[in-house]
Amino acid sequence: MSQPTPDTFEILKREAAARAVATVRSGMKVGLGTGSTARHFVDLLAARIKAEGLDIVGVPTSEATRQQAEGLGIVLSTLEQTPALDVTVDGADEIDPALRLIKGGGGAHLREKMVALASKRLIVIADETKQVAQLGRFKLPLEVVPFGLNTTQQRLVAVLVGAGCQTRITRRLKADGSVFVTDSGNAILDADCVAIPDPDALAHALDGVTGLVEHGLFIGMATAAILATADGIRVMGQLD
Ligand code: A5P
Repeated sequence: MSQPTPDTFEILKREAAARAVATVRSGMKVGLGTGSTARHFVDLLAARIKAEGLDIVGVPTSEATRQQAEGLGIVLSTLEQTPALDVTVDGADEIDPALRLIKGGGGAHLREKMVALASKRLIVIADETKQVAQLGRFKLPLEVVPFGLNTTQQRLVAVLVGAGCQTRITRRLKADGSVFVTDSGNAILDADCVAIPDPDALAHALDGVTGLVEHGLFIGMATAAILATADGIRVMGQLD
């Protein structure tokens, strides 16, 4: 088979998004994920709402998604106004066989996790390259408050070492070299773990680090993953 091109990936991501849009029913409150795959979902959801007159309220997981959804005319709410959602559909950076995820490649994992936790179901959409046997090749995003960042980083290194991970941590920068700032005004540290031997234990240990606002491990949250492959759609978990 020939090498997949960037266009092929966009087609696969859109196919996964289309399958997720098909699960949405009128009357639902829907968390809208962030990233290039979720972008397809928002696009296709808006088209279906328009074509079928569906009654949908969306809760965006980032300012970027809010702007996109607003521009497409999706009725929007916030987590404050709408604290209980039917489903969130979002992308992921890595998905393991137990539906554990690494998220935050776009720096939105804090809001993504909050919206997903408020949802009955979290459906992940991705192309098949996101599926991994073991989490950790993708750098684990860690959102930290800027105050005392270096001391927080030292404590994070200790936790990562304790969890049996490699510990190279870098501060996330934007393409122009300036510091990346999240929608909540925080910094992102990316931890190159190489492999995470026990994601549950690492997530638990990270939960206790003061100064860390949120890490990108999503454990026990995804109820299904829709993976688009060259041979069609593969579903892990339960879609409904
Ligand atoms: C945003 O911070 C992330 O969690 C994204 O959901 C994740 O990086 C997947 O993005 P893509 O769909 O662009 O790969």
